[in-house]
Amino acid sequence: MIEIIPLKEKDIAQVVAIEAKCFRFPKPESIFREDEHKYLVAKEGSQVVGYIGIEKIIDETHIINMAVDPAYRGQGIAKRLMQHVLNDEDVFFLEVRTSNETAKGVYERYGFKVISTRKAYYPDGEDALVMRRIPFE
Ligand SMILES: CC(C)(COP(=O)(O)OP(=O)(O)OC[C@H]1O[C@@H](n2cnc3c(N)ncnc32)[C@H](O)[C@@H]1OP(=O)(O)O)[C@@H](O)C(=O)NCCC(=O)NCCS
Repeated sequence: MIEIIPLKEKDIAQVVAIEAKCFRFPKPESIFREDEHKYLVAKEGSQVVGYIGIEKIIDETHIINMAVDPAYRGQGIAKRLMQHVLNDEDVFFLEVRTSNETAKGVYERYGFKVISTRKAYYPDGEDALVMRRIPFE
């Protein structure tokens, strides 16, 4: 059974390992330590299988990142993470690589729309699409 709970110190190493598998420029462990309170993890027993980071500023919520261990994809874990953080009061926004069709598709499923492009947002020069979700839009 998968449970969604706040990130705790003991789970940071597993989050860092998934981050390394999922991103070309993984965030260092120090960032997860500093931002521990911003993250939720999906756990199956003691194993972390995915995570999502959010930052709420008044009525706007920024999704910092989300990842699911490749071995656990396609089982609705991202869906569970999204359902935990989304609500119909706040505006949500995020950045996603223009080439990341999978993530873009997942976010579109949950009501996000592309609103702009940030040129050369990533360290390798790739642009980011900015996606926004407005309740009931
Ligand atoms: C994006 C990611 C988090 C999705 O995780 P996941 O647990 O496999 O996704 P889920 O199984 O919960 O699927 C969520 C929805 O997206 C759809 N979906 C998932 N993967 C898909 C794919 N490859 N193609 C099309 N649709 C897909 C599912 O059908 C599902 O739709 P539903 O809610 O209508 O059933 C995962 O692929 C990942 O970690 N990617 C690498 C990291 C990344 O790119 N993160 C985003 C950075 S902005």
